[in-house]
Amino acid sequence: MNAINDKQQVALHATKLVEHGMTVGLGTGSTANYFIEELARRHTQEGLQINVVASSVVSCLKAQTLGLPIKAIEHITRLDLYVDGADEVTPDLTLLKGRGYDLVREKLLAQTSDQFIVLVDPSKLVTHIGENFPIPIEVVPFAWQLVHHKLEAMGGKGGLRQNANKDGLAISSHGSLILDMTFPPELDGEALNHKLNQIAGIVEHGIFYKLANAIYIVADGQLSKRIATTQQTKN
Ligand code: 5RP
Repeated sequence: MNAINDKQQVALHATKLVEHGMTVGLGTGSTANYFIEELARRHTQEGLQINVVASSVVSCLKAQTLGLPIKAIEHITRLDLYVDGADEVTPDLTLLKGRGYDLVREKLLAQTSDQFIVLVDPSKLVTHIGENFPIPIEVVPFAWQLVHHKLEAMGGKGGLRQNANKDGLAISSHGSLILDMTFPPELDGEALNHKLNQIAGIVEHGIFYKLANAIYIVADGQLSKRIATTQQTKN
């Protein structure tokens, strides 16, 4: 049998949270993919009856290919569980997400689920948001210059994300552009979340503040968990 890596192992732990009859949000990215695969295996081999809601076109296609019953995001009012990866996690469980292009769907699922569980390996643990990656900020196309100007006035640096071939701009699944911006370290996750929420033209951004219920971390095969206190979450 092939050795399984930390991302795969943390995903296997998370699938144990899924129970018969649940509606489950599927994340996007390599860790979320392992979760989707194991969920599909349980559905097929163990008869686990669930519905899934995808956070992106990519995870929707994967779930469809593997035979999971999909519900459209338009048709739900709540989720039992949403499981996704993250690019950064701070000690107060603030997340940075959005290397994919579907920030709005990801945040909708995070806000809608009874439990939002985030799966990471230790490379994702940081002391402050923006330590390893710029902050992705989805903008209405006609507003990008005005928003960019405001972000620069806050000390932000960066510009529009290029597409994968570097021959055009990255576009989200519903037509937004994405600014990837770095900010001075005195603007922490809480302050940035607050400021970005106030700017017209920003559709959504990659700071997930007080949304995660728990972080599952696997390092060298060992699972550890960080559970949010009630004050730390949306609930
Ligand atoms: C996509 C995300 C991903 O969860 C994040 O990029 C982590 O990806 P991976 O599991 O491949 O390391 O936020 O928008």
